Amino acid sequence: MKHSLLLSLAFYASLLAQEMDGKKVFETYCWGCHHQTAVAFGPPFNEIASKRSLEEIEAYIIEPEAMYKAFGYKRTVMTKIDMSEQERHLIARYILSFKGKK
Ligand code: HEC
Repeated sequence: MKHSLLLSLAFYASLLAQEMDGKKVFETYCWGCHHQTAVAFGPPFNEIASKRSLEEIEAYIIEPEAMYKAFGYKRTVMTKIDMSEQERHLIARYILSFKGKK
């Protein structure tokens, strides 16, 4: 009983850590052009989350040049950002966490 309580605490702590890491990636690489719920230079995360999957978001970060047409843009001005697979996954999950938020 006590054991499983500790386990679930550890589980929630790791979820929280992931969310915070996603925020850190966002602040490091994306904040200049994207905001969470307001239009900046690029579209806001809540809008992206409403229409894209995790895989699509990751693919766009890897290679905007290869993806922009499929996403309905006439051109792309988003910089190609070098980051680890782990960081890319965290930021994609962070973006999706804004689904439905205003
Ligand atoms: C230099 C500014 C800039 C930076 C930095 C930037 N973006 Fe973008 N992003 C844009 C613009 C502008 C668009 C709109 C289409 C285009 O120009 O590629 C866009 C489009 C996107 C899209 C596709 C939107 C859609 O229609 O679904 C995703 C996903 C995305 N950005 C994620 C990110 C993430 C994650 C980061 C940080 C790791 C980031 N961007 C950093 C400017 C930027």
